[in-house]
Amino acid sequence: MKHNILVIGGTGKTGRRVAENLTASGHNVRIGTRRTTPTFDWEDHSTFAPALKGIDRAYIVYYPDLAVPGAKEAITALTEAALKEGLEKVVLLSGKGEAEAEACEEIVANSGLNYTLVRASWFNQNFSEGAFRDSILAGQVALPMPEAEIPFVDASDIADVVSKVLIDDSYNGETITVTGPRKMTFKALAEAISAGTGRTIQYVPISIEAFKEGMKAAGLPDSYVWLFGYLFKEVLGNPENQTVSNDVERVLGRKATDFSEFVANTVAEGTWNQSLAD
Ligand SMILES: NC(=O)c1ccc[n+]([C@@H]2O[C@H](COP(=O)([O-])OP(=O)(O)OC[C@H]3O[C@@H](n4cnc5c(N)ncnc54)[C@H](OP(=O)(O)O)[C@@H]3O)[C@@H](O)[C@H]2O)c1
Repeated sequence: MKHNILVIGGTGKTGRRVAENLTASGHNVRIGTRRTTPTFDWEDHSTFAPALKGIDRAYIVYYPDLAVPGAKEAITALTEAALKEGLEKVVLLSGKGEAEAEACEEIVANSGLNYTLVRASWFNQNFSEGAFRDSILAGQVALPMPEAEIPFVDASDIADVVSKVLIDDSYNGETITVTGPRKMTFKALAEAISAGTGRTIQYVPISIEAFKEGMKAAGLPDSYVWLFGYLFKEVLGNPENQTVSNDVERVLGRKATDFSEFVANTVAEGTWNQSLAD
C-alpha cells in the first residue's frame, strides 16, 4: 500500500535519506521545511495543519533538538494537528540519553496516534554535513569529553530504520535505539578520518567552557551555546549512553555501518576535498 508521507526536516541529514528511500519505494513524499510549499516551520505552529493536510504518516525531526525550550509545546501542537488531520502514524527522531527529549517522546506516546520512537546516538554525519565538518576541513577537531566513548551512528542506518518502521505497523509503540556497531573516542574518530583521507586530522581536547566560549566568540546564538554544553555534559558524559545497541541489525537484518565505511563513502563523495572557502 502506498502512503502520503510528510518528512519534516526532509532536506537534513536523516530526513533527506528517508525521503529518498520512501520515494524509491513508490510512496508520495511531501518534504516539510521552512523552504517548502506548504511551508513547515517549528517556530510557527500555524504552518503545521496545512503541511499535514492529505497526509497519512509523518517522520518528525525537530530542530535544533528536543531538549531546547519550546520543543514540548511544538511537539504537542504538532501531534494535536496530526490527530485532527487524521494521520495514522508518526515516527519521532529522538536523542539517546536525553532526559528532556524523553518528555517529548511521552507527548507522542500519549497523543492517541500510532507511533514508533527512534532514539539515535551522535551521527557520523555531524563530521561531514553538520556542525563539525569545518573542523575536519581545517585539520583540527577541538572538542570536549576526550574520555567519552561514543557509538556514532550513520544517518543512512537511521534513515533505513525510520523508512521501515514508518510503514511496518508491527513496530507500533516500540522505542528503537540506533547506534553504530562500536564505540569511539573523538581521538579515535580523528585517527580514522586521517587514515581514510590521507590527511592529518588532529584531535585537541578542550574543556566544555572553552568550547562554549569559542561558540560565543563565533557569534552563535546563546541557545546553541547552551545546547552544545548540554549535549557534551549530559549526553556524552553519561556512561549509560556509551553503549552499543543491536537494534539496527534487529530491524534491518544487516549489520550497522562501521565508521570506516562512512569514512570511505565520504571520501568517495569528495565531501572533505573542499576548502573552507567553498
Ligand atoms: N545530529 C546528531 O548527532 C543527533 C543525534 C541524536 C538526535 N538528533 C536529533 O536530530 C534532530 C536534528 O538533527 P540534525 O541536527 O542532524 O539536523 P538536520 O536534520 O540535518 O536538520 C536540518 C533540517 O531541519 C530543517 N529545519 C531547520 N530549522 C527548521 C525550522 N525552524 N522548522 C522546520 N524545519 C527546520 C532544515 O530545513 P530548512 O533549513 O530549509 O528549514 C533541514 O531540513 C534533532 O531533533 C536532534 O535531537 C541529532
